[in-house]
Parts: sequence; structure tokens; C-alpha cells
Amino acid sequence: MNLLILGSGAREHALAVKLSQSHLISRTFVAPGNGGTGTEFTNLEIDPLDFESIANAITVHQIEMVVVGPEQPLVEGLIDYFENHSDPIFQNVHFIGPNKACAALEGSKDFSKQIMEEAGIPTAKARVFTLVEWDELERYIENHPLPVVIKADGLAAGKGVAVCFDREEAIQFAASVLKDRVFGEGNSSVLVEQFLDGIEVSMFVLTDGIHYQLLPEAKDYKRIFDNDQGPNTGGMGSVSPVWFVDERFKEKVKTRIIDPLFKTLNSRGLTYKGFLFIGLMKVGNDPFVIEFNARLGDPETQSILPRIEGDLVLALLSLKSQALDQVEISVKKSAVASVVMCAENYPDSPAKGDEITFILAPDATGKIYHAGTNKRTGKLTTSGGRVLTCTAEGETLVKAISNAYQTLEQVDFRGMQYRQDIGLDVIEKRS
Ligand code: AMP
Ligand code: GLY
Repeated sequence: MNLLILGSGAREHALAVKLSQSHLISRTFVAPGNGGTGTEFTNLEIDPLDFESIANAITVHQIEMVVVGPEQPLVEGLIDYFENHSDPIFQNVHFIGPNKACAALEGSKDFSKQIMEEAGIPTAKARVFTLVEWDELERYIENHPLPVVIKADGLAAGKGVAVCFDREEAIQFAASVLKDRVFGEGNSSVLVEQFLDGIEVSMFVLTDGIHYQLLPEAKDYKRIFDNDQGPNTGGMGSVSPVWFVDERFKEKVKTRIIDPLFKTLNSRGLTYKGFLFIGLMKVGNDPFVIEFNARLGDPETQSILPRIEGDLVLALLSLKSQALDQVEISVKKSAVASVVMCAENYPDSPAKGDEITFILAPDATGKIYHAGTNKRTGKLTTSGGRVLTCTAEGETLVKAISNAYQTLEQVDFRGMQYRQDIGLDVIEKRS
């Protein structure tokens, strides 16, 4: 069958590589893709939010499976659009991702908190405010312990959260959301949230609405500089596995978070199908939810997919008929590390148009996934903040990290920046 992956990042490149390894896949298309996916697969110049053009591409290229990488098409109802399409041909296509009502777990932090509250899921305490409650919000922040976390309710391209160590900063961030509408008119409420002190981990679930399976977990490194300094980014690297996610911890995540979540969604008549990303904070030995996302993570995907054994396409095909319990997803013992290479001045105003060269044969030790690259001029050049992800496997995490940095040595472009400490904290903690 032919496969279409929506998105343009290294996550989507990694998905294309993994899924196309299945003997069930004939041709792989990526829309809009990047310089890497265009070389290995076929790029289609389609915006993932342009559902009509996607419908057209599905028909023209006889696509039978569509995997949605980023959240926005899901939050804007891509699944619903095709479920309700007047042309019955789309009923035979496997669309991988939750519908709009379920994707609101990511699209609205307020909705997500309501569900967690109803389900009794451990999370940070939070209160929601709109602009009419501004005076109350100011008083609430004045009396809130520090640090305090302020979050824009809706999607904000990863920039909607501020962990504030002084109250003035917290009030200013709330004002930028509610008064200046920096994240758009639709983003009209904020959450004022308790700070959770612990270690973060990203966990992933694949579900058909009845059954679910845990995928490998990963740790993401969000800040631009080593030792978690500097501004937040889309993610500077990831490693999998994460030492403290043992059977006991997984059991807590299942019984305290995943089971009650799906039970509560079901009680509201909502059936979640697809990937679910649980952003967790381990506080003491217990998992607390920071956020739910309706998709896989970037750069976590680059580190978790190589650890999945067997045919992931088979698992994805089972979602439609809710038969995921018939498919085994096993996880390799090996470790994977991914280091993201960014453009100069990322995340503020990343440079573009710099030529990328590979010093040795690419992929000698690991795999280089593309994100902000294109080949429009014939040459491979940078075209966005996160340019490439260098991913490598190893028997141990130490080895995987060393292999990933060795892979990175092969790449060169002007102004490139990357973190030197991906995974090091996890190794130290383990010993
Ligand atoms: P989010 O956009 O929700 O993933 O938040 C971005 C980052 O802010 C998270 O990855 C955490 O590092 C941090 N964060 C969010 N909420 C909290 C919280 N309640 N306590 C501590 N850190 C948080
Ligand atoms: N790595 C975090 C995310 O994908 O949202």
C-alpha cells in the first residue's frame, strides 16, 4: 500500500524511514516534507492544513494510510473531515491520529485539565483566567508560591509556557497572552499552574480506543544550551530508554493516568485512536502529567522508533478495527540517542540558506534525519531552526550517545549549534 506522512520535521522523516521498512508499504509520500524526505521518498507540496488537497493527493496517488505528524491538522479536525467526507473512498483509508474532540487534549490546556480533574489524574494544580478576570488573576499570582507556571490555553508553537521565578514576569507573560494576544485572538485564556519539581520524561501510547500499548519512553532536552540553560526550543535532543521508567513506574502510569484517562474520555462518548504523548514529571517516585499531546514528540520519535521491533504498520492497521490487542509491539533492549543540529540564532531568528555539507559518507554510524532543509536550488541548504537530527543506536546509552555525536561529526554548515550534553544527566543518574 502507499503511505502518506503529513509534516516536515525530523519526526516525519523518522516515521517515513521506519514505516517504509514494512513489506506492506510500496511507496512513501511526505507532505510537504524536507530535503531529506525528498531524496529518500516523494515529497508532495501540500500544506497539512489543506484537507482538500490532501484528499486529492490520496486519490491521485492511491494512498491507503495517512500518518499525521504534527498536532495542528488533528486539532483542526483532519480526521473528522475524512470521516464525514461525502466520497466513500476515504472510508477505506487508514488515518492515524485522534479526531478533533480527542485532540483537544492538546489543543486546549483547559479541556485537558478538566478531563484530568474528572479522571483524578495526578497533575499540577491550576486555575484558568480570561481577560475579564484580570484583577483576580493579578491577586492570584501575587499570592502564588514561586516559581509559578503560566500557560496559554491553546496551541502556541511550543512558546505558550513560562516558568516564572518572579511574579512581575508571570503577570507580564499573562498580559502578553490576554491583552496583547501574542498567540492570536483564539488564545484568550491562561492557566496559572503550580510548579512541579522533578525529572521530566515523555511517554507514548498507541491506542485503538479500546486497547493500548506503551511505546518506548524518551527524555527530551528542551533548552538551547548545555545544562538546561537558555530559552526553550522545540527540542535539542532525546534519549531512550530513561532509567527510572521501570515496570513499577509504568504500572503507576497505566493505573493512575492512562486507564482513568480513557475511561473518562469514553464516558463522554470520545474514542481516542492513534498516538498519545504523555509529558510527565517524576516527582519523588510518582508520575504527574504536565501535558497530553495528540501525536508523537519531536525529537523523541527519532529515538523511540529505532527501538520498536517488528512491523509498526501492522499495529497502525489494527486501529481501525480496534484489534490492537492482536498485534505485538516489542521493544529492543538497545539504547538510542538523538542530537539536534540547529541553525545560527535559533530559536529567536534562525538563519536560513546556508549550504549543508557531509564531510564523510552520511549515515556511517547512525542516521541523519532532516527537518529545516531543502534542495530547491539543487544544493542542500538550511531552511529552518532545527536543521537535522543525528540519531544512533548502541548497546548501552553511553555507546548510543557516542555514536550519535560521531554521526554529527559528518555534518557541517555555517553557524550550526547543538548541545554537547544530550543524555549525560541520565547516565550519571543511573550509576
Ligand atoms: P509544555 O509546553 O506544556 O510542554 O511546557 C513546556 C515545558 O515547561 C515543559 O516541558 C516543562 O519543562 C515546563 N513545565 C510545564 N508545566 C510545568 C509545571 N507545572 N511544573 C514545572 N515545569 C513545567
Ligand atoms: N519534544 C516535545 C514535543 O514534541 O512537544
